[in-house]
Order: sequence, then structure tokens, then C-alpha cells
Amino acid sequence: MEKIDAQKRIETLRTIINQANYEYYVLDNPKITDQEFDKYLRELENLEKEYPEFDSDTSPTKRVGGEVIDRFKKVKHQIPMLSLPDVFDITEIEDFNTRIEKEGVKPTYVCEYKIDGLSVSLHYEKGILLFAATRGDGITGEDITHNVKTIKSVPLVLKEPIDIEVRGEIYMPKKVLEEINLKRAKENLPLLQNVRNAAAGSIRQLDSKIAAERKLDTWIYHLPNPEDYGIKTHQEALDFMDRLGFKVNKSANKIVTGINEIEEYIKETTEKRNSLPYEIDGIVIKVNSLDSQKQLGFTSKYPRWAIAYKFPAMEVLTTLRDIVFTVGRTGRITPNAVLDPVIVMGSTVKRATLHNEDYVIMKDLKIGDIVSIRKAGDVIPEVVEAKKERRNGTEKDFQMITNCPICGSPLEKKKDQVDHYCMNMACPARKSEALIHYCSRKAMNIDGLGDEIMEDLFNLGFVTKIPDIYRLYEHKKDLIELEGYGNKSVDNLLNAIEDSKGNSLERLLFGLGINGIGDKTALLLVKIFKTIDGFLNATYEDFERIYDIGPILAQNLYDYFHNVENIALIEELKSIGINMKYLGENERHHDLISGKRFVLTGTLSFTDRDSLSNLLISYGGATSSSVSKKTDVVIVGENPGSKYDKARELNIEIWDEEKIKSIVDSL
Ligand code: IVH
Repeated sequence: MEKIDAQKRIETLRTIINQANYEYYVLDNPKITDQEFDKYLRELENLEKEYPEFDSDTSPTKRVGGEVIDRFKKVKHQIPMLSLPDVFDITEIEDFNTRIEKEGVKPTYVCEYKIDGLSVSLHYEKGILLFAATRGDGITGEDITHNVKTIKSVPLVLKEPIDIEVRGEIYMPKKVLEEINLKRAKENLPLLQNVRNAAAGSIRQLDSKIAAERKLDTWIYHLPNPEDYGIKTHQEALDFMDRLGFKVNKSANKIVTGINEIEEYIKETTEKRNSLPYEIDGIVIKVNSLDSQKQLGFTSKYPRWAIAYKFPAMEVLTTLRDIVFTVGRTGRITPNAVLDPVIVMGSTVKRATLHNEDYVIMKDLKIGDIVSIRKAGDVIPEVVEAKKERRNGTEKDFQMITNCPICGSPLEKKKDQVDHYCMNMACPARKSEALIHYCSRKAMNIDGLGDEIMEDLFNLGFVTKIPDIYRLYEHKKDLIELEGYGNKSVDNLLNAIEDSKGNSLERLLFGLGINGIGDKTALLLVKIFKTIDGFLNATYEDFERIYDIGPILAQNLYDYFHNVENIALIEELKSIGINMKYLGENERHHDLISGKRFVLTGTLSFTDRDSLSNLLISYGGATSSSVSKKTDVVIVGENPGSKYDKARELNIEIWDEEKIKSIVDSL
């Protein structure tokens, strides 16, 4: 074939295949057979192989997966990706409606399904998919383009060559989760918890093969910049996105006026819910007119023009078979309910935390009881109550243990506290939990060393203390042979371990698991002490003097850094080559933020307090909850509290919304 003909044919095939994908995955109305589709795809694959000069990122052959990235790039959202306030009953919807009417708006609403998945932002340039990002903290997300390209209902090329961002939900159809779990059960692998986690887990993979296998899907429901396209209502925005080729849930969405019609929609949806091929956990109610949306604006966290009505939590009955005890990394003992497995809202529940002895006593649980289990939208199931009327006398009383279930040491319960503790620092359970914590996301962030793998490695004796992690390469051969690990995943794991050596000190400090030192406090501390030697040389007073550190934390820190074993551990980690310095300030600096102490009051329309606080901290600022002479700047939003008055009283610099927004926009 002539080169020019090959190029033409490639373009034709891409158009045919994109259209076929659209008809099949978006319209659910295929016009060609699977065999024809496969024939075109194979022809295209062959031509692309033969003529690599015509390769294109948006070729439908790129949908099969296989692209592997080495890390997730951060993406800053031009417009924050907000979530919605949850409401649980009709009176709260009435309140929402009343608030809107009070603003002088006569609202028409669009009701939509609240899809149980994870939100995504899709960016197109001249109609071509440029990148896709997760929500992240709402301000910064992660680039997941390689995985999103494998989702067949996401157009790689739009029907018009325009620049646009759209947002929606990535989800896993119910049937796909069932199929995956059936397969996993046969292979004795742990089951995927629910559609939401399964979808999020598939998207958070570096290798796009996995996402491709998981058959994810999308519903697109939000256009962040409608005015750019002269659009006046949310419904028009939905129609517009539909016309561009996105999958919009047209048959589910409904324009309504008044509470009665909303109630009717909830009723209809509740009836349909179980027969839908995807999970929904509520409905979303949005003001239709975009002018009204603008007028209503935002609170610090949410739009004022939309709410999410969540379906009531589901309760099911099962038997409490046993109560078993686990030991956390601080030695804390937790009783856990072992339940006859039941499916609640699409996921199997086998265990539920019972928190502590008092909790079990308060609920008067007996082993053998029929108990009701509740699961709201969230993942964590809860034992609601024992059905006492169904007792038959064979139930056994709950007995709190007196010795550690792992090492046998006597447990201690401090005065006025509810928790029991194993005090044996060498207790194996404590140790493996501590190792899991060390590798966790907010600590050293070693991808691939989660709970189950770490427990295996601990039980195999490969990793029994932190420095062993860095010697895992010595067990490379054994690891490759272990069930479930391949050559590549072992390499990935060893690379992740090696990479983590360069982490900034706050991750190590948090990872060490010092009692009471969370990730935020760790960051605050490393900004002050800069290096691990700074901590080793600090006196109790040096710690106590720090704003935000009370006497208990100061004592914990001092004790930790003066314990011989801990000092030896730190020395060993130093010799392994772990970074012992705070690197943050070298990474990000802003003259107006770095080194300053901020207090936030009132609500800001463009972001929420937590996200802003994280952002300020990441630029070397510090935030605290009260104004004092040490405060450098008070950021004041709408309806500020007494902190504003105090700031004026103390003559502290004040930034209004406009000022902080212009700084954030410039970052
Ligand atoms: S609208 C500013 N519509 O629910 C508008 N969200 O708590 C933001 N969700 O983060 C979102 N279905 O991940 C919207 N039809 C729908 C939705 C939906 C599911 C998710 C989304 C969002 C969360 C809100």
C-alpha cells in the first residue's frame, strides 16, 4: 500500500472504530457486530505497526491498556473540584429549598442519580483528550490519563474540535465486580470490597492493563465553565456534553419544581435502584438556572445550589460468631466482631470493629447473638444492636481479655481511659502494625507494602524491624516465588523502597510512630528542627515551647529521642542512607507564605479551610486555630468569627478573600 493510502486508511479506521465504540458504550446501541469491530481493530493495529510514523495518542488501539507510568503527576484544578453537602431526609431538602427561595430565587431543579464511584475531570484541547485527573483534595488531583484512556465510554476525540473540561464519575458496573470477585474467590484472593473501592483501586494503578481489564464506565454530569459556551442552564450543559459524545445519564435525569416532585423522584429512584446495572448511593439535586447558581455561590466547602440526598443506611441481620482481639501499633487492644458473612450494600461484611470493652458492654453483645449491621455509604460497617428477643439461652457472655492475645503480656488500662494496652514493646503484633504504619501513604509511602503483604513478610521473617525493609532485595528470589508476586511487581516494590529513602524528614518522623505525633504535627516539627539531629539534641523545653505542642506530646517526643533502642534505630537508618533532613523548603517557597503562621476564619468561596491549610503548609507556612501575638496573618472569609476582631485588636495583618485567592492562583 502507498504510504498516503495507508495514512488515509488509518484515519478512516480510527473514525469507524471510535464511532463503533460510541454506539456501543455511550449509546448502548451497537450498529456493527463484534466480529466486524475486531476485524477493523486488527487491521488498524497492523497498519499502525507497519507505519509507526502515523502513531497517535488518541488512536482507539491505545484503549487496550499497557501504558505504564512510574508515578502519578500532580494536576492543579483551575476550578476546585468541590463535593456536595449530604442530607438524609426530606425536611433537610425542604430547608435547602427554603434557603434558596429566601435568596429570591424561584428554583427549578435537575435531579440526578448520585453515582457511587470516584469523580474525574477530563480535559480536551481542540476536541482531543489531553489529560484526565482525579479530584484529590479538590485543589490538586493526580493525572490518570493512561487509565482513563482504557475506559471505552470516554471519548478520545470529541464530535467538535473544542477546548473543554468536563467532570463526572468513573464507576464499576455491579456485574463487573461480581465477575471479578467470583474469579478472585476461586483463586483464594481477598475480595474487592465494593464498587467504589474497586473503581478507585483500578484507577490508582501505574499499569493501565489493570484498569483496562476492570471494564470501568463513566457518567458525565458537570461542566465547570458553562459560560464559555453560552450555556444558561444545567440541563443545557448536560445536553451539550451529550452532543459532544460524552455519556450523560439522560434517561435518569429529570427537571422538577417543588418539593413534591423531588419526593416523587426519590420514590421512583428508590424503587429502581436495585435493578440498575450500577450502584447509586443517593440522588443529587441541582438548581437548573446557571444565573441562579452564580447568585447562590459557594460556602467554604460546597456549592450553595446543590445537595446530595443519601439513601438511608441499610441494615441487615447476621450472627455474631465471636469477638476477637487485635493489637495496634501503639499496643492498643481492639475487640472485633466476627460475623457470619452478609452482603450489605454490595459488599461482604465479615468483621466490624467494636472499639473497646465499654462499647461492647454498652451494647450488651453476647457471642451467638443475632445482631443488626448497618452500613451507610461509607465503607466501615457498624454493629447496631443485638436482637435480644431472639436469644435462646445458648449465647455466651462477652469477656474482656486480661493478657495480650499475641504475646501474653498482662494488659494495662490507664485511669479514666477506655482502652486496654499491651505494654510489651517487643510484642510481635505491635511490631507488624508499626511496620505497616511506617510504609503507609502519609508516612514513607512505599507503594506495595500494605497490610497483607507486610503481614506475610513479617510472618516469613523477612521484615521484623524497619531496617529490614531496606534489605528486602536480599530476598528478591523468594519474593518472586511467593504467590501473587511476579518479577515486575517485585522490581516495582524494590524501586519504591529505594525511592522512599529520599523522602523529606516529616514522613520518617510520622512513620516512626511516636505516640500522638500525626502527619501534620510531624510536618510542623520538622520545619522547626530541620534534621533528625535537631530532634536528638532537643531538650524537653525545646519541645514544650512549641505552639501546638502540649506537655504530653513534649514528653513523648523527649522520651522517644532519648531511648537507646530508638537512637540505635535512627543511627542504623542513617547508615542505610535514609534522608534525615526536612526538604520541604527547598521544594516550595513563596515569599508571602513561607515561614509565616496563619489563622483562617470565615468561609472562602473558592476553597475550604483544610485544603487551604494544607496548601499553606506545603509552601512552608504554618496554620493554627487561634489568634495570638505569634500569628503573622489572619485570612478572613465571609462571616468571620471573633478571630477577626482579635486580629484587629492585636494589629495583625489581615488578608481578605481576594488577596488569598490571587496568591493561590499565582502558585
Ligand atoms: S455534582 C459542584 N452530580 O458525589 C458539583 N456529583 O458529594 C459537584 N457524584 O464529588 C458534583 N454523582 O464524586 C455531582 N450526578 C452527580 C453525582 C456526583 C456522583 C459524586 C461526585 C462528588 C460527590 C458529591
